[in-house]
Amino acid sequence: MKKFSVVIAGGGSTFTPGIVMMMLDNRDRFPMRELVLYDNDEKRQAVLGEALDILIKEQAPELKFSYTTDPEVAFTDRDFCMAHIRAGQYDMREKDEKIPLRHGVIGQETCGPGGIAYGMRSITGMLEIIDYMEKYSPDCWMLNYSNPAAIVAEACRVLRPNAKVLNICDMPVGTLRRMSQIINKQPQDLEVRYFGLNHFGWWTSVKDKEGHEYLDEIKDYVAENGYLTQVEVDTQHMDPSWQETHKKAKDLLAVNPRYLPNTYLKYYLYPDYEVAHSNPDFTRANEVMEGREKQVFTAAREIIEKGTAKNSNFHIDSHASFIVDLARAIAFNTHERMLMIVENNGAIANFPDDAMVEVPCIVGSDGVEPLAQGKIPNFEQALMYQQVTVEKLVVEAYIEGSYQKLWQALTLSKTIPSAKVAKDVLDDLIEANKEYWPELS
Ligand code: NAD
Ligand code: G6P
Ligand code: MN
Repeated sequence: MKKFSVVIAGGGSTFTPGIVMMMLDNRDRFPMRELVLYDNDEKRQAVLGEALDILIKEQAPELKFSYTTDPEVAFTDRDFCMAHIRAGQYDMREKDEKIPLRHGVIGQETCGPGGIAYGMRSITGMLEIIDYMEKYSPDCWMLNYSNPAAIVAEACRVLRPNAKVLNICDMPVGTLRRMSQIINKQPQDLEVRYFGLNHFGWWTSVKDKEGHEYLDEIKDYVAENGYLTQVEVDTQHMDPSWQETHKKAKDLLAVNPRYLPNTYLKYYLYPDYEVAHSNPDFTRANEVMEGREKQVFTAAREIIEKGTAKNSNFHIDSHASFIVDLARAIAFNTHERMLMIVENNGAIANFPDDAMVEVPCIVGSDGVEPLAQGKIPNFEQALMYQQVTVEKLVVEAYIEGSYQKLWQALTLSKTIPSAKVAKDVLDDLIEANKEYWPELS
């Protein structure tokens, strides 16, 4: 079997050790000859890089491993780039969440004004790594899960239309695991139909391979419990705030009982509730900094101190195995069916062709082929049209350096009650993002 050369962009990510261990665990399905970490923060990456070097020498000595901040070294001779960068790191995520909350509106990583602020930062970083990839390894594919994926995907569509970048989100993967638990099946035995935008969509069908439809059975469960399940199958979304999110799906289903909702819809359908239940002094960024970030970097430092990764606290992120499924689909033309963020072009019949939507696709060595989802009802269509316009306005504002368009984007966001609040939030976000955003006028 061919062996692949992989670069992970955002090597200092809290998810890097889990994903590397998942890839080591999947070497029989996806053999690697070389693995390189790339980051633009040398110190942060070195902690994980050093620890993983020790671990890989013990567990996979045949694999060539290194870490670097030099783009040429990182991107030369690569088949795949797994990208999970966070422009501005946790400091800026904290601001994205806290600034809007000070104005009484949703403060969230990817939704509402926080997501818009993050989007304005991410576009620059994403274009940078795409350009490195195209310069040093023109045949390389980027599997991108850097957020906010909806805005990043729209920016790629407009600014790098021919780049080999595939945008994917893990939320539908995690939720499908929960659904499979509810009906006592394995996720790989289920096939779904789904339409929406990233972090903004609905399942219209969940069937087993024999064609039995489980939508009603799952809805009955979600109407009572949301997506909270007895056994934890979705390892990434476990902290107390995530449990609240899974539970809240119950109220999302109440508004729209026809389909099963993506949990992120809570920020758009219940913004007042979410703001009231947020602590403006301790947001999800703080929960992660005190939780996942601390655990991962402490575990790395322990490995370095001991000089061995035996009995370490690095854990395989089995939840992330969809990344290997995606890489395999391209590498071996498996025609795997996966939810991807793609240009609509008729996949949703009554939605603009040039919208970046999330739908099931067949993935093979030529890339993705979206599957037609037909016409969607008015309620979902109107919500999606509003949100996709926000995302397009952000990208236009970025390209044109337009204050006006970014103000319109915030004003149009369903999470913000008025143009006045939008302007107040925007002015504070501009101040906080001076180092990262293009200048607006
Ligand atoms: P993190 O801050 O721990 O890691 C991100 C790393 O990216 C940092 O080390 C940072 O220095 C680096 N970075 C930033 N800009 C860069 C650039 N231009 N070039 C190279 N490196 C750069 O963040 P995290 O919590 O581990 O999350 C990483 C990313 O993965 C985020 O974008 C997050 O939103 C995303 N994510 C997406 C999904 C999904 O479903 N799509 C799921 C989980 C995480
Ligand atoms: C889900 C989403 C990601 C998001 C992550 C945030 O997995 O699909 O897009 O980045 O949650 O998780 P966190 O634990 O960092 O809040
Ligand atoms: Mn996501």
